[in-house]
Amino acid sequence: MTLIHTPFGPRTTAAEVLAGVDLTGRRMLITGGGSGLGRAAADALRDAGAEVLAPTRLELDLADLDAVRSYVEGLDTTVDAVIANAGVMAVPERRTTAAGWEVQLATNFLGHFALITGLRLSDDARIVLVSSGAQLRGGVDFDDPHFERRPYDPWVAYSQSKAAEVLLAVALSRRDPGRTANAVNPGRIHTNLQRHLPPATMRAMGAMDDDGNLLHADGFKTPEQGAAGEVMLAASPLLRGVTGRYFDEDNQEAAVVAGGPEPALGVARWSVDPDAADRLWELAEAAVRKQSAAR
Ligand SMILES: NC(=O)c1ccc[n+]([C@@H]2O[C@H](COP(=O)([O-])OP(=O)(O)OC[C@H]3O[C@@H](n4cnc5c(N)ncnc54)[C@H](OP(=O)(O)O)[C@@H]3O)[C@@H](O)[C@H]2O)c1
Repeated sequence: MTLIHTPFGPRTTAAEVLAGVDLTGRRMLITGGGSGLGRAAADALRDAGAEVLAPTRLELDLADLDAVRSYVEGLDTTVDAVIANAGVMAVPERRTTAAGWEVQLATNFLGHFALITGLRLSDDARIVLVSSGAQLRGGVDFDDPHFERRPYDPWVAYSQSKAAEVLLAVALSRRDPGRTANAVNPGRIHTNLQRHLPPATMRAMGAMDDDGNLLHADGFKTPEQGAAGEVMLAASPLLRGVTGRYFDEDNQEAAVVAGGPEPALGVARWSVDPDAADRLWELAEAAVRKQSAAR
């Protein structure tokens, strides 16, 4: 399969992606739209004329399936694009939600699954899953997704949740060919996402100096640059009809690679495995069904 090439690069901003694009009449929902990449994406979409719904965590807590359901039931409009942008990273201790799901998998993946499958979407709706290069480090462990038997590791849990988001794009694209679903790695950006990281980890990542100052080393983007990929997939006419793909931090479609500790770019084979996508879909569907039955 030929990889899709876009005219955008790693430093392109969300506003540049939307230059000359008129989104008047398009209603777009973005999670986590109050900070970081989500806020930058929401601003750019609004500037291009879109109506942007950006529920806060108080209105839509993705870690709480009842809250997602209430939000969906209260929204009596059709949505033309969903950007699953909200996320948590490297939560230090193992935590589970009321549904019994590990909190990163619950927030980053399951809450978005419940939201996307519960919403009324227009026939040509575009769905974007904001994943991460972390999906290269590990996939979904179907034997123990909630770390009940294996030791909890904050990064293994984050990687699993980000691979799960790519699998959700794959599953959606296979189930609903009229609409599109893609995943994107925004790159590295200083945001509140790093709130759980100790200074030693930030220093090891080249993100902080010895005095605690944030470093904007070469690889770091601004939030406006980091938001370019999600906006591109949600709204650029150049990507219309493209589905089931993963775009990297350079805003180009990524090649499928083996995954593991080494690769910096690409999408891991386990993140795009159609059988894993189906299996994860069934797990999520069962969780949502159980929650509905308990209501
Ligand atoms: N920054 C990076 O370097 C980087 C790299 C790769 C991927 N990403 C991905 O990019 C996305 C955006 O992250 P960011 O960097 O912009 O971080 P951020 O500034 O921390 O934004 C994350 C957003 O998610 C929201 N959120 C967290 N838990 C939630 C919940 N249970 N329910 C509803 N909303 C919740 C947060 O709301 P509160 O403000 O209420 O906490 C916040 O608005 C994430 O999916 C992240 O994994 C970021």
